[in-house]
Parts: sequence; C-alpha cells; structure tokens
Amino acid sequence: MTDTPDPAAKAAANQMWGGRFADGPDAIMEAINASISFDKRLAAQDIAGSRAHAEMLGATGILESSDVAAIREGLLTVLSEIEAGTFQFSAALEDIHMNVEARLKEIVGEPAGRLHTGRSRNDQVATDFKLWVRDQLDATEQALQALIAALLDQAEAGADWVMPGFTHLQTAQPVTWGHHMMAYVEMFGRDLSRVRDARARMNTSPLGAAALAGTSFPIDREMTAKALGFDAPAANSLDAVSDRDFALEFLSTASICAVHLSRFAEELVIWSSAQFRFVTLSDRFSTGSSIMPQKKNPDAAELIRAKVGRIFGAQTALMMVMKGLPLAYSKDMQEDKEQVFDAADNLMLALAAMTGMVSDMTANRAALAAAAGAGFSTATDLADWLVRVLGLPFREAHHITGSLVALAEERGCDLPDLTLEDMQVGHAGITSDVFDVLGVDNSVASRTSYGGTAPEQVRAQIARWKE
Ligand code: ARG
Repeated sequence: MTDTPDPAAKAAANQMWGGRFADGPDAIMEAINASISFDKRLAAQDIAGSRAHAEMLGATGILESSDVAAIREGLLTVLSEIEAGTFQFSAALEDIHMNVEARLKEIVGEPAGRLHTGRSRNDQVATDFKLWVRDQLDATEQALQALIAALLDQAEAGADWVMPGFTHLQTAQPVTWGHHMMAYVEMFGRDLSRVRDARARMNTSPLGAAALAGTSFPIDREMTAKALGFDAPAANSLDAVSDRDFALEFLSTASICAVHLSRFAEELVIWSSAQFRFVTLSDRFSTGSSIMPQKKNPDAAELIRAKVGRIFGAQTALMMVMKGLPLAYSKDMQEDKEQVFDAADNLMLALAAMTGMVSDMTANRAALAAAAGAGFSTATDLADWLVRVLGLPFREAHHITGSLVALAEERGCDLPDLTLEDMQVGHAGITSDVFDVLGVDNSVASRTSYGGTAPEQVRAQIARWKE
C-alpha cells in the first residue's frame, strides 16, 4: 500500500469534501486523520454495504438503473482488485470509504458520484464495523465450540480419574479429572452464550441513518437491512451512527473469555511442571531452551495467560474513548477499530492455541492419583463418616479429624495409613469401616450430589453438553 500523500490523490480527497477548502491538509493533519492503514480491513464489508445501498437506490427509483448497473459492476472490480492485492490504498483519501469510492469513480466515472446519495460516512462506518464485529462473533462462537469439544473429549476419557481438588492451591478434597475439565466447559459455555447474546442484540442496521438525522430521500432501510443480514434497521438515526456498544460488548465478552483462558493456562503451566507432572503437553505446543537441554517450556500456555492483558486493555481503551462523547458521531470513534482488531486477532489465536494444547495433552493418570491421596485429602470424608455413623455433631467430628491429621503428620504418613488403634484415640467408637471412606476412589464416588465430582455426575454433565 502507498501511505505517502500524492498530489493526485489529494485532489481526489478534496473532491469528496473539499468544496470549501482552498488548501490541502498539512502532513501531520493527514497523519492523525487517516485511518486507511487499519480500516482497509473493512474493505469487504464496505463494498457489501455500498452494493446494498446502490441496489436500494435503484429499487426506490432514487437512481437510474443504468447508474446502479455501473456502480454494481464497478464495486465488484474494486473488490477483486483489493482481493488480488493490486489496489493502491492512499492515505490522502483518509479511509476505506473514500478509497473505494475514489477508485469506483476512476472505473465507472460519473455514476460513482451518485452512490453517496442518502448516506454518509457516519452510517457507512457504523455499518461496516458492525458487519465486521458480527463476523468476528460468529468466528468466536465456532472457536469456542471447538475448544468445548476438545475439553469434552478430555473429560470423557478421564471421567473417573482421581486428582486433588484445591482451594487456596492447597489440597482440599479429591475430585475427578473429568469434573475439572467440565468446570472449564461451563465457563467457555457461558462465554458462548454471551457471544450469542451480543450478536442478537447488535444485529440492527445503521445504514440510512445518514450523517445523523436520516435523509429526505425516500430510501428503504428495511431493504438494506435485510440485504446485509440485519434483523431490522436501527430505530434512531442519532443512536445508529454513534452507537459502539456492539464493539464494547464484543470486547467485554472477549475479556471475560480471555480471563477464563488465562486461568486454565495458569493451571497448565503449573500442572506441566516437574513438581506436578499432572499433564504432559505435546511437543507441538511446547518450546525448548537454548541453554538448558532438558527444558520443555509451556510457552503457548504462558502467552495465552498473558493475552488477557491486551484484550482487557482494548476494552478499557474503547470505554475511555466513548466516555463523555456527545451525540452523534465524533471523530474520536475512529479509535474504535484498532482496539477491536487487535483483541479479536489475539482472542482467536489464544482460543486456537488452547484448543490445540487441550487436544494434544496427556493427563498422567498415575501422577494425578498419587497426588489425589496426598495432603490428607479425605479428611472431610472422615469427618462426614463420624457424623453419619457415630452421630457426632459436625464441629466435634471436625475437631477429632483434625487431631488425627496431626497424628498422621507426626508419623509422616497419610490418613489411611493410621491403624485402627490410632483412629480410636480420636474416638473410641471408630470401627474398621472408616477405612472405606479414606480411599480417594470411594471419596469421589460418594459425591453424587447434583454437579458433584462423582464419575456418574460427571458423565451426566458430559452427556448434557454433548446434546
Ligand atoms: N474513518 C472514519 C471512522 O473510522 C469514518 C467516518 C468519518 N466520518 C466523518 N464525518 N468524518 O470513523
């Protein structure tokens, strides 16, 4: 692309809005004003919007059908030039809207000048950007579905594999691998529903709101809305050109999803360490060290953990851009696009990398099981047994169990390794039946409450999600 101002292009820019101007813009003015370096990403949407607008102008009799035919053909030529990479973008023409229109004029001549009837760049950019964000929401939905499918596969394979469950990152109670995977399915499932909500809410067409007040031409906004796949025209023209909620909602949805990704990424970093060995990440999603030959680093997980920084940063940035803006359009709003593009690109990359990592990773069943029993993870089961079988109040059972944990700690063993005599020091009524609940498999199997970690509950969750 050519970002350098050339006199011919400058003359063309002046033809767009320069009627009252004697001078072209200062180079610095052009540098701060131009958005073409990034909004060229909206080219396909811009041309789709123009095509819908032109057809409508023809159908309503605002333009002659011969003009519409010329515009239609010309726009297709412009699109093919952009797709082929031969289109010369010009910073002097500011943005994608004027770049496309100026080229259209070169190709079809006079009819190009009629395309902007009953429309403004304000409704044009809102329409283009909405179409882009809508595509992105659809792509995010698909990426989330792929990640959820990968997690369901992991959950199904290890629905009854025991592992330690943590609170405060301290061993708490045994859980199942499948249950842990399904926790993320719930999170990414909520992200999916937020994506769908955002899409449903944003799907109204700004096109035809014109600069801010609508137009005196007898346009048909229903027709353009329908042609562009919108549910309806946006109902208030002032709002239509100045609304960027759809971008903010995309960014907040993306931010929450990135938070979820970062939490899982952090667990993978911990779990793949030599101290944990809960999972082995594939070579395809790891890197080596240039100095330490033994290293296999979880770089993808670390980068996914970090992505939330720029994605949430984009949300904060656009919130601050929009804050306090009076109605309707202000040029401030041109600052919306780079934030959304960057956040969208990085979210897609993070989702794809996470899906790849999850599909490829191996859970180390033996390491998970060994860790599951460590750290007195079945102490709650012992306390519950004292309540259930001996009828003790829970507080007393808690106290007795605590003293037995202290005893085991002193002996350097785990709870199931204590003898019955040891146990009876805690309470004389304890029988050998107690050892049944001290095993981690029995512990998880007993947690059959709805949403609990018992394999049968986990399998029910998996079945529900697979529907
Ligand atoms: N490049 C502008 C943007 O991204 C397009 C709209 C310009 N509208 C205007 N009245 N100057 O927001």
